[in-house]
Amino acid sequence: MFDLLEELALARRQNGLSQEALASRVTVDRQAIYRLETGVGSFALLLRVMAALEYHVTGLARGMTLADQLENRRRALKLSKAEVARRADIMVNTVSAVEKGKGSAASALKVLAAIGTSRMARKKPMQVMMSPLRIGEKDKRFTPVALLTALEAVFGPISLDPCGHVESPVVAERRILLSEDGDGLRDDWSGKFCYMNPPFSGATAWLKRASEMHAKGAVDVVVGLVPAKTDSVYFQTDIVPNCDVGFLRGRIQYGSATGAEVDKRNRAPFATMLIAWGASRQEIEHLRSLYPSVWMMHERARPREGVREDALVVSEFG
Ligand SMILES: C[S@@+](CC[C@H](N)C(=O)[O-])C[C@H]1O[C@@H](n2cnc3c(N)ncnc32)[C@H](O)[C@@H]1O
Repeated sequence: MFDLLEELALARRQNGLSQEALASRVTVDRQAIYRLETGVGSFALLLRVMAALEYHVTGLARGMTLADQLENRRRALKLSKAEVARRADIMVNTVSAVEKGKGSAASALKVLAAIGTSRMARKKPMQVMMSPLRIGEKDKRFTPVALLTALEAVFGPISLDPCGHVESPVVAERRILLSEDGDGLRDDWSGKFCYMNPPFSGATAWLKRASEMHAKGAVDVVVGLVPAKTDSVYFQTDIVPNCDVGFLRGRIQYGSATGAEVDKRNRAPFATMLIAWGASRQEIEHLRSLYPSVWMMHERARPREGVREDALVVSEFG
């Protein structure tokens, strides 16, 4: 049976979004998304979330939004609002509110249950437009083996991959997997060396998460592989002063699920960079010697010299 809330949470995960990331997309706090997924919240928020996830119900009635569809479905069935109210066990003016996109999500769900069809399903416009091959590829931009080998030579075994994939060549003591209901943006991070190659569409949320986890001491060193989006405010104001940044030479060829070194058909369409939190200068120099890259190193804090106000004075190229 079609369960709209269950489908909504699934749609979020399939978009690679944690509750927090979705919350920031629709500008509410995470708690509001959590509550909505358990059926508590306004219908207006439910409609915003559906729009943000490009989530549309098919097999119900025509309409841009679920509110329009509910009204059109009632009209198609030639039912009065009073009859729908009776069937849904709610007040007549609650039915009117729902048809205007108001009231509670719970009321909208009651109306849906009362007049829905057995053909209801979720339409995913983005995915309909993509071939199945393209959908799979998005999730399989695996780290190339040569980069993993270099990272392990410098930092030792990977303790944590917070955005793992069962088919990826990344070997980590612990992996957080969406397929096991994990969420690297929500679950605790732990270990000495964390390596992340997050979904590129939401890279900033992952950079923030890595900064937080490193700052609170959950992980000693984090290295992230992300698109070289050097114009973003977060990159310029938070990453550059606090992290070492390595620009990779050439376009990266992703790793493969088959065990081959790289997947020759799967090449990044943009430049990529490594970002390191908590690495020593020697480690970065070692990594640079092993993997073709140009590094911009942040100035190390000088212990006991007081607060440095010049943290933005960066850099060493080469
Ligand atoms: C670019 S792939 C990297 C896979 C693997 N870590 C690697 O480097 O080969 C990004 C992975 O992050 C996973 N992912 C997306 N959102 C996630 C989340 N919130 N928590 C955990 N994993 C997530 C996706 O399933 C996808 O496989």
